[in-house]
Amino acid sequence: MEAKLIKLAGLGDERGNLVSLEANRNVPFEIRRVYYLYGTRADVSRGYHAHKNLKQLIVAVSGSCRFVLDDGAARTEVILDDPAMGLLVESNVWREMHDFSRDCVLMVLASALYDESDYIRDYDEFIRTVGVELSHE
Ligand code: TYD
Repeated sequence: MEAKLIKLAGLGDERGNLVSLEANRNVPFEIRRVYYLYGTRADVSRGYHAHKNLKQLIVAVSGSCRFVLDDGAARTEVILDDPAMGLLVESNVWREMHDFSRDCVLMVLASALYDESDYIRDYDEFIRTVGVELSHE
């Protein structure tokens, strides 16, 4: 699978950088929730889940981390280290986050409010879910 990276148009000038995130413009969904991870320990990996319906745009506004994305057919890796790049993670994509830099602030824009029932936290269940979906295509 290919990671979907969105270049976030910079509105910066000689004073510095500015990125604006707008629903249904450069963010391809209605933003219902924003959360961010920071102070993540270097030896910690997070994620290990997929979402049934949620879409997310993820920006490393500071520092870096490594994403593993898996659509059930293939895996890909992407390093997020640029505040002007957004990683679009659609529904039914397994994600893992590794190698957080000490200064990493990972901001997540999400298309829905927090809903534990939207999570798939078991990898075998994820594979079964996407397998069923693929067979219906
Ligand atoms: P979790 O989804 O486990 O984090 P990770 O991205 O590493 O998988 O979230 C940690 C805890 O925070 C979990 O108990 C759910 C809760 N949580 C909320 O209440 N609201 C939110 O918006 C998020 C993202 C998590």
